[in-house]
Amino acid sequence: MSNKFPQIKKLIIPAAGWGTRFLPMTKIIPKELVPILNRPSIDLLVDEAIDSGIEEIILVISTRKQEIMKYFEPNILLENELKSKQKHELLKKIRKTNREAVIRVVYQYEQLGLGHAILVGAKFFNDEPFAVILGDDLIQSDVPVTKQLMNMYAKCGSSILGVQEVEENDLNKYGIIIPKLDEEKNNNFFEIKGAVEKPEIKNAPSNKAVLGRYIFNYSIVKHLEKKLKNLEEDKELDIVDTFADYMKEEKIFAYEFEGIRFDLGSIKGFALATIHYALKNEEIGGDIKSHILKLAKAMG
Ligand code: G1P
Repeated sequence: MSNKFPQIKKLIIPAAGWGTRFLPMTKIIPKELVPILNRPSIDLLVDEAIDSGIEEIILVISTRKQEIMKYFEPNILLENELKSKQKHELLKKIRKTNREAVIRVVYQYEQLGLGHAILVGAKFFNDEPFAVILGDDLIQSDVPVTKQLMNMYAKCGSSILGVQEVEENDLNKYGIIIPKLDEEKNNNFFEIKGAVEKPEIKNAPSNKAVLGRYIFNYSIVKHLEKKLKNLEEDKELDIVDTFADYMKEEKIFAYEFEGIRFDLGSIKGFALATIHYALKNEEIGGDIKSHILKLAKAMG
């Protein structure tokens, strides 16, 4: 099949937030560097992007969080040390984190919301479609979720939101989509009519939440710019704020991706992700499992 639509090569990871739910730790450590086992969570997200075929990642951070980029720069002293000690496997692991060639850091000097972060990042793109990964959403899947969305983009050429059903109690934590007609029934890829940011539970238009994966055609940028110009004081620019205007010109689709998603924006989500990855880890999985079973039995 020839490619009718441009290939997605660029991606934005907004990571400028304060991480207030993780205070006091985030006083000194950016949340993105907190590990799931032995890897900072941001490393797993960068891998998702690269495994999906992304060639350039724009990391949108605040000036307080420059350590994040240090993780992706070579550490020659460490590499020499490992080389001299013949620790080849470790050396390979360390070198895999040298991602300077694909990651570009961009500073978000004002914290004006997700829409603003995306705008800050997209300024470096030239009329190309791009993907977005949010740092709070870690998704474990066989096919990387960004790749799943890219496969859908190749079919339709429209902007796509990655969605999944969430519990009723959580509907007020996310952007919730309004499906078009009954299209979403028995269908994991469908057009939407709109989305509402963090609705009251009783007013939620569906049970499908946007969970930190997006593909946008570049035309979203002009709508973000327009909304930013008219942003009221003390308000943030949410990406969903642009959808109504955008959809007067172009369609937006939702794709119910496959994968287990962890909310790294909450301590509970972080703990669950850690347990999940620990249980799946070849080296320690067995021990972790017997510990959990023993503990669960003792707790009754
Ligand atoms: C952001 C988006 C929201 C989305 C969520 C996914 O909210 O604004 O639409 O559902 O991420 O994690 P935040 O969690 O940054 O408040």
